[in-house]
Amino acid sequence: MTQEFVPITISGTGSYAPKRILTNAELAESVDTSDEWIFTRTGIRERRIATDGELTSDMAAEAGRRSLETAGIARGEIDLVIVATTTPDMPFPSTACLVQHKLGLNSLAAFDLQAACSGFIYALETAAGMVRSGAYRNALVIGAERLSTIVDWQDRSTCVLFGDGAGAVVISRNHDPKSGWLGAKLGCDGSAVELLHLPGGGCQIPASSDSVEERQHFIKMKGREVFKAAVRVMEQSALQILEHHGLTADQVGCVVPHQANLRIIETLASRLGIPMDRFFLNLDRYGNTSAASIPIALDEAVRSGRIKSGELVLMVAFGGGLTWGSSLIRWP
Ligand SMILES: CC(C)(COP(=O)(O)OP(=O)(O)OC[C@H]1O[C@@H](n2cnc3c(N)ncnc32)[C@H](O)[C@@H]1OP(=O)(O)O)[C@@H](O)C(=O)NCCC(=O)NCCS
Repeated sequence: MTQEFVPITISGTGSYAPKRILTNAELAESVDTSDEWIFTRTGIRERRIATDGELTSDMAAEAGRRSLETAGIARGEIDLVIVATTTPDMPFPSTACLVQHKLGLNSLAAFDLQAACSGFIYALETAAGMVRSGAYRNALVIGAERLSTIVDWQDRSTCVLFGDGAGAVVISRNHDPKSGWLGAKLGCDGSAVELLHLPGGGCQIPASSDSVEERQHFIKMKGREVFKAAVRVMEQSALQILEHHGLTADQVGCVVPHQANLRIIETLASRLGIPMDRFFLNLDRYGNTSAASIPIALDEAVRSGRIKSGELVLMVAFGGGLTWGSSLIRWP
């Protein structure tokens, strides 16, 4: 017996960014850096920082609420919630459970997924598979981060890069044969943990006064090596997904890349042979928001009219792990 897969699509997008803007100039007051250094090396001008009481689940819930609104889907029709995050409110319960409660959803299933900055692409593929199977009608897929709590504000080589925020999409069954979700390619190299990780807080280095003293609860990164690996794996994964669907780079109408560094994106663009004006960028305003970066950018690209109906959209990410992934959708 052959398995019938239900066609699916993204039926709505939403995002949320905290109001507080932290500019490069402000950062230069607390660490030895400058707006010029940060902008020329990364393309970032400013980032958003959550206020004290504003949790990952709050930002996730607001982005989720906005995506449900644009999808025009009632809360009772959502039966799966996945939150991709590296900065959950707490180790358990999952942020997805907290979001389910905050949005008043009757979810059949709610769980978090951790794949660092590639988390949203991983979550999208997971939700896509579950909805395609026919077992779930609509899934709310959210990328949300409060990275400001795991950034070492004394480390100028990392603190200039990251910001807070959330983005969301609704995955639904598709009734239009000319558009919809095509698929994803995911990857991982677990030998590269040391390039980008947060050592403390798990069972290897549980929280203790020593771990706090040694600043083990903050992001550690080998910037140059991450840069090189990022370009390599994003190129490879984008080419794989295009090839798998018999498509070529020149057919892509809009690329929504992980917003980590403008120079990474420019190098990727030149390797793929896709002009920069087909890349949607907002990292100048948000910095790297990890799992939230692609869904925030996707939402802004859709709302600004940058992504048009029928256009082929490529999303491509990389992150700690190392992890990476690409997904393709013919925009509805
Ligand atoms: C982090 C990154 C911007 C650094 O840029 P770079 O050109 O590689 O710079 P380097 O790390 O080689 O550092 C060059 C110099 O700038 C200094 N520097 C680092 N951060 C600085 C800052 N914020 N302000 C001023 N100087 C800084 C370094 O100390 C070094 O000084 P030295 O030459 O005296 O030793 C870049 O490597 C990068 O973006 N990597 C990818 C990171 C990433 O995307 N991470 C998230 C993945 S999801």
